[in-house]
Amino acid sequence: GITARIDDLLAAMTIEEKAGQLTQYFYFSLPPEAEDNAAIGLDVAAQPKAVEAALARGGAGSLLFQTDPAQINRLQRLTIEGNRHGIPALFGFDVIHGFRTVLPVPIAMAASWDPQVIEAGQAVAAREARAVGIHWAFAPMVDIARDPRWGRIVEGAGEDPYLGAVVAAAQVRGFQGDRLGAPDRIVAGPKHFAGYGYAIGGRDYEEASISDADLWNVVLPPFRAAIEAGAGNVMTAYMPLNGVPATGNRWLLTDVLRDALGFEGFVVSDANAARSLLTHGFAEDLTDAAARALHAGLDMEMAITDPAYDRLPAALADGRITEAELDDAVRRVLEVKLRLGLFDDPYVDEERATAVLADPAHREVAREAARRSAVLLRNEGDLLPLDAAAIDSIAVVGPLADSPRDTIGPWIFDFDLSETVTVLQGLRDRVGETVRVEGARGIPAGQRVFPSMFDMFGGNAPVDPEGFDPEAELARAVQVATDADVAVVVLGEWQNMIGEAASRSSLELPGRQLELLQAVVATGTPTVAVVMNGRPLDLTWAAEHVPAILDVWYPGSQGGAAVADLLFGDAVPGGKLPFTWPRSVGQVPIVYSHLTSHEPENQGRRYWDEPSTPLFPFGHGLSYARFSYADLQVDRESVGRDGSVAVSVVVRNESTRDGEEVVQLYLHQRSGTASRPVRELKGFQRVAVPAGEERRVEFAVGPDERRYWNAAAHDHVLDASVFDVWVGGDSTAALGTTFTVTA
Ligand code: IFM
Repeated sequence: GITARIDDLLAAMTIEEKAGQLTQYFYFSLPPEAEDNAAIGLDVAAQPKAVEAALARGGAGSLLFQTDPAQINRLQRLTIEGNRHGIPALFGFDVIHGFRTVLPVPIAMAASWDPQVIEAGQAVAAREARAVGIHWAFAPMVDIARDPRWGRIVEGAGEDPYLGAVVAAAQVRGFQGDRLGAPDRIVAGPKHFAGYGYAIGGRDYEEASISDADLWNVVLPPFRAAIEAGAGNVMTAYMPLNGVPATGNRWLLTDVLRDALGFEGFVVSDANAARSLLTHGFAEDLTDAAARALHAGLDMEMAITDPAYDRLPAALADGRITEAELDDAVRRVLEVKLRLGLFDDPYVDEERATAVLADPAHREVAREAARRSAVLLRNEGDLLPLDAAAIDSIAVVGPLADSPRDTIGPWIFDFDLSETVTVLQGLRDRVGETVRVEGARGIPAGQRVFPSMFDMFGGNAPVDPEGFDPEAELARAVQVATDADVAVVVLGEWQNMIGEAASRSSLELPGRQLELLQAVVATGTPTVAVVMNGRPLDLTWAAEHVPAILDVWYPGSQGGAAVADLLFGDAVPGGKLPFTWPRSVGQVPIVYSHLTSHEPENQGRRYWDEPSTPLFPFGHGLSYARFSYADLQVDRESVGRDGSVAVSVVVRNESTRDGEEVVQLYLHQRSGTASRPVRELKGFQRVAVPAGEERRVEFAVGPDERRYWNAAAHDHVLDASVFDVWVGGDSTAALGTTFTVTA
């Protein structure tokens, strides 16, 4: 049915109507103070009128950035009535970590190492978004990030392709369910294809130079996993990959994406990325940009204003593209609309939307996700969990302690701050009248040196109250901490210091936060640092002097409630770091899965002024329970190339508390036709082990875990070799054994 319907439509459509289907417009609703916003070079008052004029001409396949169901219905009606065929628009949005219910940021969700919680979270986000009329998420961002100066590290799953692939697939399942177009679900669009996370120097939008081996072994696996999970869309990257802009790169968008990875959905550009083929010094004019993008494999252009794809009819008239190429792209766009059922049911029920957004079950999912994504970095002398019965007072200090906007984090636009639970609020709710909870901001909020382009959406960094006197406030914070039995210092980056266009040259705690932390610790009151971040920050001082450090990332709208659950032991931390945590920015990039190279025994001494080991290894994360590993077994000593080895280990909970451990398996190929990483994650399971009990955990290590891209062979290979395998609680796991793969 779908194919015949599309054939009929294509036969009836004009070239202009076809080009219109391939265009997606931003339709902003910005606060009034955002008018004429210089940051995006846009007259925000004029732009909606231009879009509506295009709709009335029958000219838009999709719109983005609307979240109000009444407005979406109105624009949908304009679209349907504006074209002769009644083709509805697809509404897209950055549904990154929740919608009204805000989940922890994606890097946090990855730190849960829990595909179920990730899937459940994105299912809630999809349900809320679909209820207001959004059909498609520009997510997940599956870019591997190995340079934390890059702000978008917060949106991905960190440094590791194996973890990244598992997280990517879980997100796609959460958004889409088992089929595109299932009720309460939306299309997933993994992005940014490909290599955006390799921006040189961590500077957003910079070029990426990626070796063949890194491209296939590191960058592409999460995309492959997302595609195999059924993702309906892929978004292209802004930057040039090895010199060729991704959005006009036919090898990348066709040979790799379609032919090698088997992607069958539709491809959209990042915002204005087709136009910017001009800026790149790639296309000679807009018609050339449109023609080359379409020819490369870009189906839909995301445009802020004046789309390049308006020139597709001209490009066809000039013979620069063929009508068959145009039809292929339109076919993919119409197909997704038909599969979503939009032709039959294009509008949403506004009352139902209100009810869905208010669903309390969604808040519970967010709270559970925040609990499961927190990482306990340090817990000297078992300071945590706190015992509410044993303390009379808590000091909750720092400018992030009571900032709802920072608690939900970046890349959220449809927020309702009144629903957000801060750490201060969460602790107050938890202890009620039994414990005195005193808050103190402590230092000025501080700010970016250069403003963020997202500032126009309102709700930026915490604003210092009127008459704020930093010295007096710092002294007050110290006094509050002195008077308390426990101090909780909430530290990190304000949400506008991370995300898109939020690269940083330093990893230091912004402003005077280190000074505040040092002053609190110096009071002698036992201190817990609660860190809100999307990138590793410089915690070298804290890692030596602050007994307990809990990384809660940007924990979302239920964040403060979850933090209270964790601090008081109603929940036990079980998250693990999805990246290697450097000691300093000078160590960047630092990954655990590097090659041995020359003189590996010098690994500890690559710099003369600093150890080469990180502050915290990839996969690190403590629990209130304590786990030991024993009896690592392989079911056979040797296998053929296609064979699989069963690896198992006993994990014992040596403590008197129940807990969950992420059991991690690492693999190393000792010799072969290329040099292979010192170790690579190839399996993990988050398992609950009750106090005093043990569990045997099993993994299969087969060809999929051993196959890799070999740059010399220009293909994936399976080498014969002895393999080391280690299983443990982080990437330094020492319990190991070997097996052999024979030719
Ligand atoms: O989806 C985003 C993308 O990740 C970065 N540029 C803008 C797009 C739409 O908001």
